[in-house]
Amino acid sequence: MSSSVEYAKAPNYVKNAKLVAWVAEIAALTKPAAIYWCDGSDEEYARMCDLLVKAGTFKKLNEAKRPNSFLACSDPSDVARVEDRTFICSEKKENAGPTNNWMAPAEMRTTLQPLFDGCMKGRTMYVIPFSMGPLGSDIAHIGIELSDSAYVVVNQKIMTRMGKAVYDVLGTDGEFVPCVHTVGAPLEAGQADVTWPCNKNKYIVHFPETREIWSFGSGYGGNALLGKKCFALRIASNMARDEGWLAEHMMILGVTTPEGKKYHVAAAFPSACGKTNFAMLVPPAGFEGWKVTTVGDDIAWIKPRADGKMYAINPEAGYFGVAPGTNFHTNQNCMSSLNKNVIYTNVGLTDDGDVWWEGMEDDNGGVKPAHLIDWQGKDWTPAIAKETGAKAAHPNARFTVAAINNAALDPEWDNPKGVVIDAFMFGGRRSTTVPLATEARSWVEGVYMAATMGSETTAAAVGQMGVVRRDPFAMLPFCGYNMSDYFQHWLNVGAKFKAAGQSLPNIYCVNWFRKDANGKFVWPGYSDNMRVLKWIIDRVEGKAQGVDTMFGKAPLFDEITWKGLNFSADQFKTVTSIDKAAWAEELKLHEAHFQQLAYHLPKELVETKALFEQKLSA
Ligand code: GTP
Ligand code: SPV
Ligand code: MN
Repeated sequence: MSSSVEYAKAPNYVKNAKLVAWVAEIAALTKPAAIYWCDGSDEEYARMCDLLVKAGTFKKLNEAKRPNSFLACSDPSDVARVEDRTFICSEKKENAGPTNNWMAPAEMRTTLQPLFDGCMKGRTMYVIPFSMGPLGSDIAHIGIELSDSAYVVVNQKIMTRMGKAVYDVLGTDGEFVPCVHTVGAPLEAGQADVTWPCNKNKYIVHFPETREIWSFGSGYGGNALLGKKCFALRIASNMARDEGWLAEHMMILGVTTPEGKKYHVAAAFPSACGKTNFAMLVPPAGFEGWKVTTVGDDIAWIKPRADGKMYAINPEAGYFGVAPGTNFHTNQNCMSSLNKNVIYTNVGLTDDGDVWWEGMEDDNGGVKPAHLIDWQGKDWTPAIAKETGAKAAHPNARFTVAAINNAALDPEWDNPKGVVIDAFMFGGRRSTTVPLATEARSWVEGVYMAATMGSETTAAAVGQMGVVRRDPFAMLPFCGYNMSDYFQHWLNVGAKFKAAGQSLPNIYCVNWFRKDANGKFVWPGYSDNMRVLKWIIDRVEGKAQGVDTMFGKAPLFDEITWKGLNFSADQFKTVTSIDKAAWAEELKLHEAHFQQLAYHLPKELVETKALFEQKLSA
């Protein structure tokens, strides 16, 4: 049944009949009060922000302090990705694999039908055309998101190449990934809206075979900005497997040596484990002449090309980064990029109309604001915080900022061909066991390191914090198919290079998060991660030897450049030591992990584990 409303016709520049028909079909289902076709213009962005201010979703920040910037505070029940409500609905359960929630597609469609029926009543349905990757790049793909959230529209404008130009690439019969999003809060006639509409019931659903995304009930981050995790990782990982490329939860940086040689490194760290920070790294004192530039901070699409090199693009156009902990000491580049045109979500609002979050006191001699309004709209003072533990910002509070705000943006970031990857890094958050850095001695060993990576959980997902879980390739919440098949895909990519006589990027396992007996981080991290990055480049250039350990080749103390940092050989030992008992336990966890993933688990990984066990007992 279609609604009686006369909807706006598609603009004349939309020439894709399939798209026009699909929009009509979804409108008939969701029954919005109006349809608005986004053109992606700056004027439109300003208009949407005004609308959000009027609705109370946005607060405009002090124009003198944060020009053209806004604060949104979400419903306290809608603050992060919901992994237990995320589904991969492949035809066969085994193709979703043991790490994904699964429901048969037909059953899921039956479940979703009544939820989406009329879900946009009283709201506008926005048609958001976007490209993941530079428009027209052979690595890029187009998506169309239909959403009843203006907050999603303005975020998508920053996070993707969004707007009219997408339709030129799409043409009359181009392919697009259909993404349907609703906050799941229809408005009956006369019903007043709330500032952050959402629904207790949430479904983040992917149909990998038909390449569709359906998201219900959340307005936050990866649940709602469907180009990001849903498309660029869960759906794209399926495309990548079928087509022989890689869709990864990786940041990409460029690093230029004092000799002027330029390399690119891609690093997979789990959510809220330092990708944005590493991608925007400012080399510390003592590294004069070194330059680090950002290609991407969260997602990499990597295509092996005929020249035997792996080319990576950042499919996104902005950063949706973790705010707490970010300050001028930890990341000057990042802080500086937040000076204008930013959307902040769930941070504190100071009395002079600025934003504040935990960690910013370090830029003010340890002094916190005397008073502010916290992310839940409550009065916050340092005394209240001390007494109740109340946080000014939610631990998963985020900023949305365009890549072009970043002064350290890599000149090649928008190159449709991509940049050549020279090394891969994998790193979890581990307070014990895993050393600061080791190099895999082979592609297979590197795949093993990535496949068995563990990490302490963070606020980026709803659930328990700080428990170690296996997060293979930092893709646990994002791999859109059976994890063991994904491992096999990585092995296949490597084998193909080898068979063609082509060299592969080195693979490194890193851990910035080892703690001492007092529970304090031993490694200074942040800018000082440059010291590890330099060792990696030295290895790529053949300037450092490293030393064999049970778990790969490790840097020698003397191979790390220590200029500008007091870090003793003893401290180095604390972050690099391999404790035999801890590793015996660790390998047991790998075993349990492999048992869970037994279906289609590549035998090379089982063999590699046996080798590690031998080395450990030697
Ligand atoms: P997602 O956007 O969720 O995928 O996360 P991300 O990997 O981009 O994480 P991000 O760089 O935003 O870092 C998140 C948290 O890790 C922040 O609280 C940082 O302060 C902290 N962090 C980042 N780098 C380091 C580091 O080198 N050492 C330590 N100890 N903490 C770090
Ligand atoms: C992550 O959780 O890895 C993120 C944030 O990058 S979100 O886009 O919300 O998934
Ligand atoms: Mn991420």
